[in-house]
Amino acid sequence: MAILVTGGAGYIGSHTVLALKLRGDQVVILDNLCNASREVINRIEKLAGGGKVVFVEGDIRNRACLRDLFSSNDISAVIHFAALKAVGESTRIPLVYYDNNVTGTVVLLEEMNRSGVYNFIFSSSATVYGANAPVPYVETTPICAPSSPYGTSKMMVEFVMREFAFAEPKFKAIALRYFNPVGANESGEMGEDPVGIPNNLLPCIAQVAIGRLPYLRVFGNDYPTVDGTCQRDYIHVVDLAEGHLKALDYLSKVKGYKVYNLGGGKCYSVLEMIKAFEIASGKYIPYKIKPRRNGDLATFWADTRLAEKDLDWRVSRGITEMMRDTWNWYLKNPNGFR
Ligand code: NAD
Ligand code: WQD
Repeated sequence: MAILVTGGAGYIGSHTVLALKLRGDQVVILDNLCNASREVINRIEKLAGGGKVVFVEGDIRNRACLRDLFSSNDISAVIHFAALKAVGESTRIPLVYYDNNVTGTVVLLEEMNRSGVYNFIFSSSATVYGANAPVPYVETTPICAPSSPYGTSKMMVEFVMREFAFAEPKFKAIALRYFNPVGANESGEMGEDPVGIPNNLLPCIAQVAIGRLPYLRVFGNDYPTVDGTCQRDYIHVVDLAEGHLKALDYLSKVKGYKVYNLGGGKCYSVLEMIKAFEIASGKYIPYKIKPRRNGDLATFWADTRLAEKDLDWRVSRGITEMMRDTWNWYLKNPNGFR
């Protein structure tokens, strides 16, 4: 039996594939490489101790590809990472995002159904809580109106999963709402490799440190927070990957559809992140205060109690490891996987 990991060549998917391989699970990756490099597969194999990773280059919307994949592999469960994820881009090309993220998931679920595969884990996001949810975010808060087509696509897939679980009793599904993933494999061999100019905070800080950006733009210092800059619940990607294994193991106990926050339960401001990175790297990070970025919320973090109780999962890596591993990855791979 094998686990199908869609988007398994991407940032979070590759760390999850490695964690699965390290505990002896068989894995098949399906990825169209629209935001990933083939080199990732070599790195996973190396870090996993040499065993081959089955890699299928293909698109989740391609039914023929999915049918072939399901008929030629004995798939027991699907972990579904494949999606487009740039919030700003999603406002410019929303239809592309809905097609890839929503239609793609519906096609995947249809082909799973057709092949009798009913175990499903989905990469959702804290963004589904929208602008008005009280903090910390709790899974029982009704979700509505995320602030971008990207966020709405995640909410829509959650609804699709819930409705399908009502209709098909064999379907067992977990949506994992990630907070802010950062960090890299401790070896420095695998990490986040954003295409073009990054949007997320830590890749931007790291690019300033390696001299690719002249300074960091800090978007707003007049928020009602500890130091006026926004606060987020950052989570080390290896902790996040381990959360997927715990969710996979818990699926057999799930009746229908469940949702869990995967976050650390505490938050750090932008200025605190800069300081922590400077300590880890020994580099000075110049920054300039800029106007607020559209759509940013002042602060949010996860209520982690449900994941702790049901999945027996909690983060074990803190801000020091997040910064150390990010810096190690950039030092060893200043050009990413290329
Ligand atoms: P990523 O872009 O590194 O990984 C996504 C992978 O999916 C890429 O390798 C890409 O090539 C592949 N892909 C995209 N569309 C595809 C398609 N139609 N068919 C096949 N492959 C396709 O992103 P990531 O940061 O690893 O995110 C993984 C998942 O987690 C995504 O669903 C994302 O929305 C979600 N998520 C990410 C974050 C974050 O900040 N990184 C936060 C919350 C949720
Ligand atoms: C964090 C903080 C910025 C860059 C996004 C998506 C979310 C999820 C995770 C997928 C904010 C500030 C950033 C910079 C800055 N992705 N910042 N200068 O916005 O919390 O979440 O990624 O699901 O959906 O929206 O993360 O890393 O972009 O920003 O000051 O150059 O850092 O304003 O306060 P965000 P982020």
